[in-house]
Amino acid sequence: MKTLGPEGVSEVLHTVGKPMRRPDAPEKVQGRAVYVDDVHPAGMLYASVVRSPHAHARIKAIRTDRARALEGVWTVMTHQDVPGKNIIPMIKDDWICLASEETHHVGEAIALIAAETREAAQKAMELVEVDYEVLPAVLTIEEGFEREDFLAQWKILKGDADSAFSDPDNVVLEEYYRTPYQEHAYLETNGVIAQPDGMGGILIQGSLQCPHYVQKAVATVLDIEMARVRIVQLTTGGGFGGKEDAPSVPGSHCALLAWKTKRPVKLVYTREEDMICMSKRHPGKVRYRMACNREGIIQAVDVDYWLNGGAYVTLSPVVLWRGLVHAAGPYRVQNVRVHAYAVRTDTVPCGAFRGFGEPQIVFAIEAHMDAMARLLGLDPVEFRLKNVLDYGDETITGHKLESSCGMKEVIEKVLEKAEWKERYPRYGRDTGRLRKGLGLALSYYGVGLGALGKHLNPAAANVVVSADGSITIAVGTTELGQGMFTVLTQICAEELGCDPRVIRLVEPDTSRVPDSGPTVASRTTLMSGNAVRNACQQIKERMEPHLQDQVIPWTSPSYRPETWPQAVSSCLQKSVQMSAQGWSVPPKTSFDVDTGQGDPYVTYTWSANTVEVTVDTETGEVVVDRLVSGHDVGKIINPQTGEGQIQGGAMQGLGYALVEEHILKDGRILNNQFSNYIIPTPMDTPELIPVIVEHRYPWGPYGAKGLGETPMIAVAPAVVNAIAHAVGKHLKEIPATPERVWEALNA
Ligand code: MOS
Repeated sequence: MKTLGPEGVSEVLHTVGKPMRRPDAPEKVQGRAVYVDDVHPAGMLYASVVRSPHAHARIKAIRTDRARALEGVWTVMTHQDVPGKNIIPMIKDDWICLASEETHHVGEAIALIAAETREAAQKAMELVEVDYEVLPAVLTIEEGFEREDFLAQWKILKGDADSAFSDPDNVVLEEYYRTPYQEHAYLETNGVIAQPDGMGGILIQGSLQCPHYVQKAVATVLDIEMARVRIVQLTTGGGFGGKEDAPSVPGSHCALLAWKTKRPVKLVYTREEDMICMSKRHPGKVRYRMACNREGIIQAVDVDYWLNGGAYVTLSPVVLWRGLVHAAGPYRVQNVRVHAYAVRTDTVPCGAFRGFGEPQIVFAIEAHMDAMARLLGLDPVEFRLKNVLDYGDETITGHKLESSCGMKEVIEKVLEKAEWKERYPRYGRDTGRLRKGLGLALSYYGVGLGALGKHLNPAAANVVVSADGSITIAVGTTELGQGMFTVLTQICAEELGCDPRVIRLVEPDTSRVPDSGPTVASRTTLMSGNAVRNACQQIKERMEPHLQDQVIPWTSPSYRPETWPQAVSSCLQKSVQMSAQGWSVPPKTSFDVDTGQGDPYVTYTWSANTVEVTVDTETGEVVVDRLVSGHDVGKIINPQTGEGQIQGGAMQGLGYALVEEHILKDGRILNNQFSNYIIPTPMDTPELIPVIVEHRYPWGPYGAKGLGETPMIAVAPAVVNAIAHAVGKHLKEIPATPERVWEALNA
């Protein structure tokens, strides 16, 4: 096994660390990639879903006769027609597959229809009659909190926060912060096709992030063994967390219809439907109280963190937990009290979204850091540097940072690219209509599922070498556009010393690979990367003894892709097994639920963002001119896709900061289309400068950690800090729409 170079010392790498074109790019840009709506099995029916118009209501009767009688309608199903359990299994078994006695959010599924045409399926929806008794609905964090109706609750208790707050020598600041719903806005809506496989099982293909979740859900509602449920991911047009748990709903619904009709059935959501009933980023509220001594050293934090979880538990406990663990930001704090609550309301269940519970609380932490710095009369950079975590320090959960902690280098490089020293003193002094400001925000991100997701941690890779030396790789994690195919190709080519062009990644299929946990938590490069490496090493070890007496200069350190096919053929002639299953199990993690102490994640990615804004004081409009986004990723496998992650994450962060929010009335989302749910476009893109720092993580493939989510997390606070620098008004709620900024300016 190749040993890793120590930090800062480079080893000779041929493919890893170099830009490489995405292997899936030509198919996608030339329109040949097959998405779910491109698939039309013979005899296929179209599905539609009857949904609740009420946030909370008792269902007194459901009449389906008229819908059934419509020409072209094959079946109408309600909760009574579910052969297995009427639940979507996730963390708790409370998520209802088809509402029976009550409905708990607008858009909740009540009945399913399969018909010969889309038109008939749509028409039949209107013919299903449901009698409701509308009940009072709980819609806000405040109402849910008052009722003590919690989907999850966590805490961290460390040291003696009370003494720090009562010490008259300390400066204390308390504020409330709020963050909105955010829509994933993937280009492709949720969609699946289900069909009986003719052998007593069922095949589901779809736009999915986590095929193994859907497998479990379908087996549960149909009451059949998981081995009879085969899930294949088709080319997926974006997920961002929105296709983690959510596709289990259309997956189960479509499976029920196909099982009943014995026909292929397609269910592809309209955009409006997708926005109304699919998961979103949880709205958040944070009470942040901090005590500092006069030198600007943080003495204590006392935090309440609330998320609006919606009607069912889904993923809220883990989303909330990630926020909890990172609740003091990348800073040393000895005395800590954090209480975190996911509140149940009669609204759409919220779920995974890039950052997973961190963006909400990081907005509060980093806005608060600037507010505290002002109160102390300290420069925001100086204040952060006095407190920032470094090698040998402990996080608020008592995790000692022994390796791969590049926070300081990230800050240094980002500030340099931002020309902070020159620009910061120049800005924040304008008196005219247009005023410039510069803001900084830091974050850190525990890579992978961590202590709460232990049972889903391992990942597998099947690597098969063909007679001509070409290679097929199947992994249990998925390509969503983030670049998994690219980095795993590079890792395999590096390990085997072959040309990356001979490697082919195939679409994830639950019948082909063991459950490898979800494609989330920025864990794919780390977990599947190590699994691929492990499989390649097994193959290499089998090959080496057979090549020793031959003049085939193939193995490392001599990288000779031109001799790879010859080496393969020579091994095959000697009956060497040229395939292997790689398996990767991460190092131990821990978390004590009573104290919130432990090593919750295997390692952390360290990030800093600076944002430069121009504020129009007459209109309240904020234009972002420049954004520098830096990350210690351990080791970058592909600088090109890495920069792509940074650009995409930064833009999602700017949307969150400036424009994106859902407006609800009586629990109904009013803006459910892209004409009224606004996201940034290329026209809104600032000068965007990515910065990569590499403090290698010894267990990661070539030292890599994770990068998928981190570029999104600390953008919004950098924006409000820049606005405060420009105009002296510190927003405590996002998005910083022109209306909100104008109101702050004219308050
Ligand atoms: Mo990701 S938000 O952990 O699906």
